[in-house]
Amino acid sequence: MLDIAAVRALVRTVPDFPEPGVMFRDITPLVADAQGLRSAVRHLAHRARAGGADAIAGMEARGFIFGAAVAVELGIGFVPIRKPGKIPVATLGIDYALEYGTDRLEIDPTAVTPGQRIAIVDDLIATGGTAIAAAQLMRRAGAAVDQALFVIDLPDLQGAERLRSAGLTVEALME
Ligand code: PRP
Ligand code: ADE
Repeated sequence: MLDIAAVRALVRTVPDFPEPGVMFRDITPLVADAQGLRSAVRHLAHRARAGGADAIAGMEARGFIFGAAVAVELGIGFVPIRKPGKIPVATLGIDYALEYGTDRLEIDPTAVTPGQRIAIVDDLIATGGTAIAAAQLMRRAGAAVDQALFVIDLPDLQGAERLRSAGLTVEALME
């Protein structure tokens, strides 16, 4: 298994994407690398196991890559948290604020068992808005959510602090 420094070396930084001034942290080279992908998943799974998760929830789209793999690694289920309009049955949804405007996440609430301990997994935390909305959605569905795991934290944006204020334990493999 690769150590965290080697996993970190596989993340590519693309300046000025999707707009000028943003340093985009691109996981494509990491997930294209067999050892890199497996190592990132195992590091995350180790933390989720220690946190006692009995299911994983991940956000479309990049959160699906890591979240589902962590769930397989631990032998537990995965709850997909989707962008609007994708789920063919009655949904539970949450609107949340972006810097400009709002966005929305939805789940199929029957995918969550009341009382289940769900860990949120995503590739990256920036402002934390997506992860807080995801945690609130899971809690509304009856889950106990006390852990959020990321490959990458952008600490300048203080998303992890916001999540901790919402009562979650936050861990990221790298900053
Ligand atoms: C990215 C990333 C996180 C979110 C982090 O997803 O994968 O889900 O942004 O930002 P925040 O902490 O400020 O909420 P994006 O919405 O770009 O979607 P994608 O996974 O489909 O690329
Ligand atoms: N999502 C929000 N900010 C991002 C960044 N800097 N790199 C990759 N994904 C992001």
